[in-house]
Amino acid sequence: MSRTDKIEFYNIIEDIINYHKFQKLDNELHHGITRYDHSLRVAKATYYVGKKLRIKKLNETVRAALLHDYYLDSDLQEKSSKEKLSIHPEIACHNAYKDFNITNFQQNIIRTHMFPLSKELPKYKESWLVTVMDKSVAAYEMYRFKFSLVFSVWALFIFNMLTIQK
Ligand SMILES: [Fe+2]
Ligand SMILES: [Fe+2]
Repeated sequence: MSRTDKIEFYNIIEDIINYHKFQKLDNELHHGITRYDHSLRVAKATYYVGKKLRIKKLNETVRAALLHDYYLDSDLQEKSSKEKLSIHPEIACHNAYKDFNITNFQQNIIRTHMFPLSKELPKYKESWLVTVMDKSVAAYEMYRFKFSLVFSVWALFIFNMLTIQK
Protein backbone atom coordinates (compact mmCIF):
# COMPACT_ATOMS: atom_id res chain seq x y z
CA MET A 1 0.00 0.00 0.00
CA SER A 2 1.42 3.41 -0.97
CA ARG A 3 1.87 6.15 1.63
CA THR A 4 -1.07 8.13 0.21
CA ASP A 5 -3.28 5.03 0.26
CA LYS A 6 -2.24 4.32 3.85
CA ILE A 7 -3.21 7.85 4.90
CA GLU A 8 -6.54 7.57 3.08
CA PHE A 9 -7.19 4.11 4.56
CA TYR A 10 -6.55 5.21 8.15
CA ASN A 11 -8.63 8.39 7.66
CA ILE A 12 -11.58 6.17 6.70
CA ILE A 13 -11.34 3.96 9.78
CA GLU A 14 -9.70 6.20 12.39
CA ASP A 15 -12.72 6.78 14.64
CA ILE A 16 -13.53 3.05 14.72
CA ILE A 17 -10.05 1.81 15.64
CA ASN A 18 -9.82 4.47 18.36
CA TYR A 19 -13.17 3.51 19.87
CA HIS A 20 -12.73 1.82 23.27
CA LYS A 21 -15.16 -1.02 22.55
CA PHE A 22 -13.58 -1.83 19.21
CA GLN A 23 -10.16 -1.92 20.90
CA LYS A 24 -11.45 -4.76 23.10
CA LEU A 25 -11.20 -6.99 19.99
CA ASP A 26 -7.47 -6.88 20.58
CA ASN A 27 -8.00 -9.28 23.51
CA GLU A 28 -10.14 -11.76 21.54
CA LEU A 29 -8.52 -14.75 19.87
CA HIS A 30 -9.50 -15.29 16.23
CA HIS A 31 -7.79 -17.67 13.71
CA GLY A 32 -4.67 -17.75 15.88
CA ILE A 33 -4.37 -13.93 16.02
CA THR A 34 -6.62 -11.26 17.56
CA ARG A 35 -10.01 -10.32 16.16
CA TYR A 36 -8.71 -6.74 15.94
CA ASP A 37 -5.85 -7.79 13.64
CA HIS A 38 -8.13 -10.05 11.57
CA SER A 39 -10.70 -7.25 11.11
CA LEU A 40 -8.01 -4.76 10.16
CA ARG A 41 -6.56 -7.20 7.62
CA VAL A 42 -10.00 -7.77 6.01
CA ALA A 43 -10.55 -3.99 5.88
CA LYS A 44 -7.14 -3.45 4.25
CA ALA A 45 -7.74 -6.20 1.68
CA THR A 46 -11.19 -4.72 0.94
CA TYR A 47 -9.69 -1.24 0.53
CA TYR A 48 -6.95 -2.53 -1.76
CA VAL A 49 -9.18 -4.65 -4.03
CA GLY A 50 -12.12 -2.20 -3.82
CA LYS A 51 -9.89 0.59 -5.05
CA LYS A 52 -8.60 -1.53 -7.93
CA LEU A 53 -12.21 -2.37 -8.86
CA ARG A 54 -13.12 1.33 -8.51
CA ILE A 55 -16.15 0.64 -6.35
CA LYS A 56 -18.21 3.75 -5.66
CA LYS A 57 -18.93 3.33 -1.95
CA LEU A 58 -15.35 2.56 -0.96
CA ASN A 59 -15.45 4.31 2.45
CA GLU A 60 -18.71 2.70 3.54
CA THR A 61 -17.53 -0.71 2.34
CA VAL A 62 -14.17 -0.51 4.10
CA ARG A 63 -15.84 0.55 7.37
CA ALA A 64 -18.31 -2.35 7.10
CA ALA A 65 -15.40 -4.72 6.39
CA LEU A 66 -13.68 -3.50 9.56
CA LEU A 67 -16.87 -4.07 11.56
CA HIS A 68 -17.79 -7.45 10.04
CA ASP A 69 -16.69 -9.36 13.18
CA TYR A 70 -17.48 -6.63 15.74
CA TYR A 71 -18.46 -8.86 18.67
CA LEU A 72 -16.91 -10.18 21.85
CA ASP A 73 -16.79 -13.83 22.85
CA SER A 74 -18.94 -12.90 25.84
CA ASP A 75 -21.72 -11.88 23.34
CA LEU A 76 -21.88 -15.51 22.21
CA GLN A 77 -21.68 -17.33 25.51
CA GLU A 78 -23.58 -20.62 25.70
CA LYS A 79 -23.73 -20.95 21.92
CA SER A 80 -22.32 -24.01 20.16
CA SER A 81 -19.47 -23.57 17.67
CA LYS A 82 -21.92 -24.23 14.83
CA GLU A 83 -24.37 -21.62 16.13
CA LYS A 84 -21.55 -19.10 16.56
CA LEU A 85 -20.73 -19.35 12.85
CA SER A 86 -24.22 -18.34 11.75
CA ILE A 87 -25.16 -15.99 14.62
CA HIS A 88 -22.06 -13.80 15.00
CA PRO A 89 -22.79 -11.67 11.87
CA GLU A 90 -26.16 -10.66 13.39
CA ILE A 91 -24.46 -9.70 16.66
CA ALA A 92 -21.68 -7.81 14.84
CA CYS A 93 -24.31 -5.94 12.80
CA HIS A 94 -26.29 -5.06 15.92
CA ASN A 95 -23.16 -3.78 17.72
CA ALA A 96 -22.02 -1.81 14.66
CA TYR A 97 -25.45 -0.20 14.27
CA LYS A 98 -25.54 0.74 17.95
CA ASP A 99 -22.04 2.26 18.06
CA PHE A 100 -21.52 3.59 14.51
CA ASN A 101 -25.03 4.02 13.13
CA ILE A 102 -24.26 2.00 9.98
CA THR A 103 -26.44 2.18 6.84
CA ASN A 104 -28.66 -0.58 5.39
CA PHE A 105 -26.01 -1.13 2.75
CA GLN A 106 -23.38 -1.74 5.44
CA GLN A 107 -25.76 -3.94 7.42
CA ASN A 108 -26.15 -6.24 4.43
CA ILE A 109 -22.37 -6.45 4.05
CA ILE A 110 -21.92 -7.46 7.70
CA ARG A 111 -24.91 -9.81 7.94
CA THR A 112 -23.93 -11.74 4.80
CA HIS A 113 -20.16 -11.97 5.27
CA MET A 114 -20.54 -15.66 6.23
CA PHE A 115 -22.44 -16.49 3.02
CA PRO A 116 -23.58 -19.28 2.33
CA LEU A 117 -24.16 -19.73 6.09
CA SER A 118 -26.02 -16.41 6.30
CA LYS A 119 -29.81 -16.22 6.40
CA GLU A 120 -29.93 -13.60 3.65
CA LEU A 121 -28.12 -13.17 0.35
CA PRO A 122 -25.36 -10.64 -0.31
CA LYS A 123 -27.35 -7.90 -2.09
CA TYR A 124 -24.52 -5.73 -3.38
CA LYS A 125 -21.27 -6.38 -5.22
CA GLU A 126 -19.58 -4.83 -2.17
CA SER A 127 -21.16 -7.56 0.03
CA TRP A 128 -19.67 -10.18 -2.29
CA LEU A 129 -16.33 -8.41 -2.13
CA VAL A 130 -16.22 -8.48 1.70
CA THR A 131 -17.33 -12.13 1.95
CA VAL A 132 -14.58 -13.14 -0.50
CA MET A 133 -11.96 -10.98 1.28
CA ASP A 134 -12.95 -12.42 4.67
CA LYS A 135 -12.67 -16.01 3.42
CA SER A 136 -9.32 -15.37 1.73
CA VAL A 137 -7.88 -13.64 4.81
CA ALA A 138 -9.24 -16.35 7.15
CA ALA A 139 -7.74 -19.11 4.98
CA TYR A 140 -4.37 -17.32 4.99
CA GLU A 141 -4.46 -16.76 8.76
CA MET A 142 -5.51 -20.30 9.62
CA TYR A 143 -2.92 -21.81 7.29
CA ARG A 144 -0.22 -19.55 8.73
CA PHE A 145 -1.29 -20.36 12.31
CA LYS A 146 -1.35 -24.11 11.69
CA PHE A 147 1.96 -23.98 9.83
CA SER A 148 3.67 -22.10 12.67
CA LEU A 149 2.13 -24.49 15.21
CA VAL A 150 3.40 -27.58 13.34
CA PHE A 151 6.78 -25.90 12.85
CA SER A 152 7.05 -25.07 16.58
CA VAL A 153 6.21 -28.64 17.63
CA TRP A 154 8.80 -30.04 15.23
CA ALA A 155 11.42 -27.50 16.36
CA LEU A 156 10.76 -28.45 19.97
CA PHE A 157 10.99 -32.15 19.14
CA ILE A 158 14.29 -31.74 17.28
CA PHE A 159 15.67 -29.52 20.05
CA ASN A 160 14.77 -32.18 22.63
CA MET A 161 16.38 -34.95 20.55
CA LEU A 162 19.57 -32.94 20.18
CA THR A 163 19.81 -32.10 23.88
CA ILE A 164 19.13 -35.75 24.88
CA GLN A 165 21.99 -37.02 22.68
CA LYS A 166 24.40 -34.64 24.42
FE1 LIG B 1 -17.06 -13.58 10.79
FE1 LIG C 1 -13.96 -12.50 9.67
